[in-house]
Amino acid sequence: MKIALLGPPGAGKGTFAQMLEDEFKVKRFVMGDLLREEVKKKTKLGKEIKNYIDNGVLVPDEIACNIMRRKIKGKKNYILDGFPRTLLQVKSFKEDLDKVIYITTKNEIAISRLAGRRQCSKCHRVYHIKTNPPKEDGKCDFCKSKLYIRTDETEEAIKQRLENYKKETEPVIEYYKKKKILVEINGNRSIKEVYEDIRKLFKW
Ligand code: AP5
Repeated sequence: MKIALLGPPGAGKGTFAQMLEDEFKVKRFVMGDLLREEVKKKTKLGKEIKNYIDNGVLVPDEIACNIMRRKIKGKKNYILDGFPRTLLQVKSFKEDLDKVIYITTKNEIAISRLAGRRQCSKCHRVYHIKTNPPKEDGKCDFCKSKLYIRTDETEEAIKQRLENYKKETEPVIEYYKKKKILVEINGNRSIKEVYEDIRKLFKW
């Protein structure tokens, strides 16, 4: 089964993609994490990507598509997080998705979630200082690596990311709605409640 998780920044895409991978043992591919991995390598491409990410701007479609295409090549089952998120990416991707899970979230809720997010520097698991804290302060529960605050967690970058979402990703939502493979999930609830609804959609 090929699934994509879409939704505004802070909707919980990363959180739920990880929970699904843990429960159903299906590999997730997180566009943002793949790009941040490239940044870590400090290559010319990585430096270019860092500039886009830090300013909350989408990286060019060609870069995003090339990275994702390489990752999912030949795979029959996967969960995509944050891809495709422009109509150009949809067209260029050419994979037939079985379901697109659209997690809706009010802006003010998303913003407060992003303010408290901490992410593992190694395995990319996502925590929240209040709603989903790690067992040990500043350390990942699973791999014990250091948690960090993302460089695009600034007020300006978040505003920009929300704007991109409206302009670039809402048309993608409409596209999948018309294809009748979109399932809308109310993400304005607790992690447990939202996940209960999402996991029901998984029949492997
Ligand atoms: P990306 O990393 O995808 O960022 P985003 O879309 O802005 O989404 P976030 O990761 O911020 O939020 P999320 O929905 O995953 O929420 P999370 O689970 O972490 O992209 C970053 C950048 O990369 C982009 O700006 C762009 O530059 C580039 N990029 C990425 N994809 C691209 C593409 N396809 N094309 C071009 N460029 C691309 O949860 C947030 C917090 O809330 C956490 O702390 C979590 O614990 C908590 N939380 C989650 N759900 C709940 C809940 N229900 N209740 C309480 N707390 C919750």
